[in-house]
Amino acid sequence: MAREVRFLLCGFGRVGRGFARLLAGKREKLRAGYGLDLRLAGVGELMGSLHRPAGLDPGAAADFFAAHKGFGGHPALQAGWKGLDLIGKAEAELLVEATPTDIRTGEPALGHIRAALAKGMHVVSANKGPFIRNFGELRALAAERGASLKLSAAAAAALPTLDVAQTCLAGAEIRAIEGVLNGTSNFILTRMRGGMDYASALAEAQRMGIAEADPTLDVEGHDTANKLALIANVCMGSELRPEDVDRTGITGLAGEQIREEAARGRVMRLVGRAERGENGRVRARVAPEALPPDHPLAAVDGAEKGITYVTDTMDRVTVLGGKSDPRGAAAALLKDLINIYRAP
Ligand code: HSE
Repeated sequence: MAREVRFLLCGFGRVGRGFARLLAGKREKLRAGYGLDLRLAGVGELMGSLHRPAGLDPGAAADFFAAHKGFGGHPALQAGWKGLDLIGKAEAELLVEATPTDIRTGEPALGHIRAALAKGMHVVSANKGPFIRNFGELRALAAERGASLKLSAAAAAALPTLDVAQTCLAGAEIRAIEGVLNGTSNFILTRMRGGMDYASALAEAQRMGIAEADPTLDVEGHDTANKLALIANVCMGSELRPEDVDRTGITGLAGEQIREEAARGRVMRLVGRAERGENGRVRARVAPEALPPDHPLAAVDGAEKGITYVTDTMDRVTVLGGKSDPRGAAAALLKDLINIYRAP
């Protein structure tokens, strides 16, 4: 018998709908492989939410939303309910948070996550915003309520970062992190190396759905800085804020410069580095670097990403791949959800 897990999903944009579609396609595999019967009890959206305690068809909800640009006219519509109303009124044991990220305030996701954890619900989040300044508070609240809080989808999504550090490197001290963490920038640099101009490469990344709604967040290094701070705070116990990260993006790079480096055998990448100094403090920076061909992160291609952990006992551990795309982000949410119920 599969375990029934009733959950809510807040945010029905590309990632939220992608998650619903992924679930629709994997329902039988989740039952057979993991003993999970996932029931979507509600979808929270700004312009009105859906609520059906017995469960909504996730694929049909995604199709409806895409066709009608909202939930107007849906039989399960709760007009006037936003995400917070849904979390307060619906019965569910888990929240999937996929609303758009606001790095400055963390809202509305911060409120959603606080409310869900306060009810003892587990949370899996694709949204970085709430964890940039409030990770400590949310982690403490989750522990107090005996709830799981997982944020793989916010920390480079399809590229495993936090899981590797927390599970595979358990017991080791992480002394430094190096990462190519923004798929859009890496895609642009890869295309420019091949001769394409910056604007065309960015437009292609936007068509692929990997760039942020405001792509300056990608190309000016903000997304890399945010992910780096998040990963360092979780894995190195630092308390970095995005403004603590010294940051240079890729917009100052000319195609010629990238191709000149390529002719010398070097690969231009936007690299984030966090390192614990002698005084114990973690310092972080993001900047373009011309990497030698034998550097593991030189192999990160197109929209892929990569991370290297430098440890005290396991030397260097690098993970490559996990390209940025909405389906990858949805899959990272699903991975976290499955792992909550696999944990002993
Ligand atoms: N825009 C990001 C990237 C994906 O290009 O990697 C979301 O973090």
